[in-house]
Amino acid sequence: MEENQLAVKCKNLIKIYGEGTGKIVALRGIDLEVKSGELMMLAGPSGCGKTTLISVIASILDQDSGECKVYGHELKDLNKDEKIAFRAKNIGFVFQAFNLFPTLTAAENVAIPLIIGGMDHTVATQKGADLLEQMGLGDRATSFPTDLSGGQQQRVAIARALIHNPRLIVCDEPTSALDGETGHKIMELMKSIAVDKTRTLIVVTHDSRIFQFADRIAKMEDGHILKVTSNYKEFE
Ligand SMILES: Nc1ncnc2c1ncn2[C@@H]1O[C@H](COP(=O)(O)OP(=O)(O)O)[C@@H](O)[C@H]1O
Ligand SMILES: [Mg+2]
Repeated sequence: MEENQLAVKCKNLIKIYGEGTGKIVALRGIDLEVKSGELMMLAGPSGCGKTTLISVIASILDQDSGECKVYGHELKDLNKDEKIAFRAKNIGFVFQAFNLFPTLTAAENVAIPLIIGGMDHTVATQKGADLLEQMGLGDRATSFPTDLSGGQQQRVAIARALIHNPRLIVCDEPTSALDGETGHKIMELMKSIAVDKTRTLIVVTHDSRIFQFADRIAKMEDGHILKVTSNYKEFE
């Protein structure tokens, strides 16, 4: 694989939490390549390191050793401010528990990355409302999270991850809190986001019902990638 076609390249990536007797080696030498434009799923049992891996790739957590290149930038070579700027420009993160702010409206929640980037609050909130409209939630722009269903909250969380037009979108178990039909709709939406080569998605899941949406699936166990396949039926 040509380096310039790769969104993500991890080589012998290691992440350790804590020290001494409390030390936990969460990533034990991860080798993984994700191509630009690809929807890569990461599957595996609870505790195997999925959230840790995407947090390192999203430059939220620092690796301990090994390589982690995102669009050719080695993350360990970036200082703290460079990492924040890199993440703000290139990465959208959809958290497992949505992490919406309860006192902000749907449109204001979506606007957060723009406001952090320095945009005027009113302009940013209007952009948030416009994106919600495109995602079929135009009538809920001024609703608060508690007045939205789980599927609607997840769409708001996805809109927030997209609003600043990042190249890499990382999602932690996006369908885990949703019923089957809503989960299916969310995955159709995610898949439509990765239609061209400009956006790459990494989706963590242990929901076998959504494996069919993946271009490839990486199976993790105990801090390792066991195998990567494009045939989702191998995992059903
Ligand atoms: N902040 C943390 N401090 C210490 N250990 C952690 C922390 N986060 C995760 N772990 C441990 O690291 C391992 C991998 O966790 P995680 O990446 O959350 O797995 P998964 O997302 O696959 O369930 C687990 O043993 C977990 O208990
Ligand atoms: Mg997790």
